[in-house]
Amino acid sequence: MKKKLKVRAGKESRPIGVFDSGLGGLTVVREIRRLLPSESIIYFGDIARLPYGIKSKEQILSFSIQNTLFLLKHKIKALVVACNSSSSAAYSFLKSHFNLPVVDVIGPAASAAAELTQSGRIAVIATQSTIASRAYEKTLKRLKSSAKIFQSACPLFVPLVEEGWVDGKITEDIVRVYLEPLKRYRADTLILGCTHYPLLKNIIQRNLDAKVQLVDSALPTAQKLASILEKNELCYHSSRRGKLKIFVSDLPRNFVRIGERFLGEKLNDVKVVREI
Ligand code: DGL
Repeated sequence: MKKKLKVRAGKESRPIGVFDSGLGGLTVVREIRRLLPSESIIYFGDIARLPYGIKSKEQILSFSIQNTLFLLKHKIKALVVACNSSSSAAYSFLKSHFNLPVVDVIGPAASAAAELTQSGRIAVIATQSTIASRAYEKTLKRLKSSAKIFQSACPLFVPLVEEGWVDGKITEDIVRVYLEPLKRYRADTLILGCTHYPLLKNIIQRNLDAKVQLVDSALPTAQKLASILEKNELCYHSSRRGKLKIFVSDLPRNFVRIGERFLGEKLNDVKVVREI
């Protein structure tokens, strides 16, 4: 699986590969495009096999390897695992088996939270598989051994977001029920440990004390990617905006409308790949 990289500083026009189980990773792509506008991106959303967050570690690992091999066919220069469930199940494997820089979303979000917290009481909401892996807990403890961590899975958030139900009474009620135990914990920082959750940010914030700071992985991950590209002399600078190509393993009817909400720009180049 090892592939050698050819490095040309500042002129590495090859794309960055990004994958998620579905649309959530587009929240990360949005920040990458803000921070690194000339970089081109190939995105893969594994919509046919979504959700990942309720599956076993072995299954998520296997999907993540397949997604990586698909993106490598597009000659990517770096890989962003824009899915917390994949980051917790597959990041170490991908990092050690593929010879290209790999960025996950858990490390960057945990670092941002560890810096932000005043009380050291950090809450994490994520999919069942991310919570079961205890990846956030372990990473946060490494960064701040005094931290007290409270974790809770919110399995209904992903289908709500994929359906575009990011506001309204039903979503508000579900958010309130999921956040109830967390309120009692009195955390001052809440990690949105799933790349779908930023779309529920307003509702989540409304259901918590206004002082609770929300951290999502999009910006810290984009910043981590920028520093890794820099360190590996893999940056690309140009006056033109980089291209964004989107591949999905299935194309639900409302994909473009909802995808544009995640991405914050028009979704023009979307292709379906049935076999990856
Ligand atoms: N976006 C994925 C994550 O960050 C989860 C979605 C899913 O369950 O497939 O964990």
